[in-house]
Amino acid sequence: MPEPNLEDAKRLAAAKALELVTPGMRLGLGTGTTAAQFVALLGARVAEGLDVICVPTSERTRTQAALYSIPLATIDALPELDLTIDGTDEFDPKLNLIKGGGGALLREKIVAMASKRMVVIADSSKSVAVLGKYPLPVEVNVFGLKVTKRMMLAAARSCGCEGEVRLRKTPSGQAFVSDNGNYIVDCFFGVIPSPDRLAEHLAAIPGVVEHGLFIGIAKAVISAGPSGIEIFGQLD
Ligand code: A5P
Repeated sequence: MPEPNLEDAKRLAAAKALELVTPGMRLGLGTGTTAAQFVALLGARVAEGLDVICVPTSERTRTQAALYSIPLATIDALPELDLTIDGTDEFDPKLNLIKGGGGALLREKIVAMASKRMVVIADSSKSVAVLGKYPLPVEVNVFGLKVTKRMMLAAARSCGCEGEVRLRKTPSGQAFVSDNGNYIVDCFFGVIPSPDRLAEHLAAIPGVVEHGLFIGIAKAVISAGPSGIEIFGQLD
């Protein structure tokens, strides 16, 4: 069998996740290129008559889902969800994640934690032994950015992390602004020896709205790569 390319791998993982969806489910829809594959496949099932209602984790996903006429609700209208399917930037053997490469980490975490189950879909390149190669996104309040960055660096140092923290910019050089009107600071730590400790320390900083460490939230990861599909954790 020829090796799947990246997009094929994402679609394969998304198709496997679609098997978890049953009629009447309340779903959280993730953000990013892998989640977009899931939304497209789900859209085709909805067109065939599948009855689900979904909460998107970003304006981008809302727009895509609306194009497929997937029934949508706000998280306030639907505060309890059955299942969230989302992508990731990295996952480790404990199923801890780095998310937020697309800048949607705050809504992604709220929606995932409002769900009975979060199942992650990924191509196998997202698997790492230790989190941190992918720069950790942190959503911060616009007010007091310099103070927040300084406190983030101190928190990181106390957790054994070294590296730069950089305000995310758009291609035109403007500060990237999230769907929630906040900035994103990307942390180039390389290795995060204690993700749970770092998560606690970052969360304690007043200017930090939320960080992209998802600790103990994902129930399973569906990873697709050259050797096919691999499941980490429990799908049900
Ligand atoms: C969005 O903010 C992110 O958390 C994405 O879920 C993550 O970046 C994965 O994106 P891709 O599926 O595009 O790699």
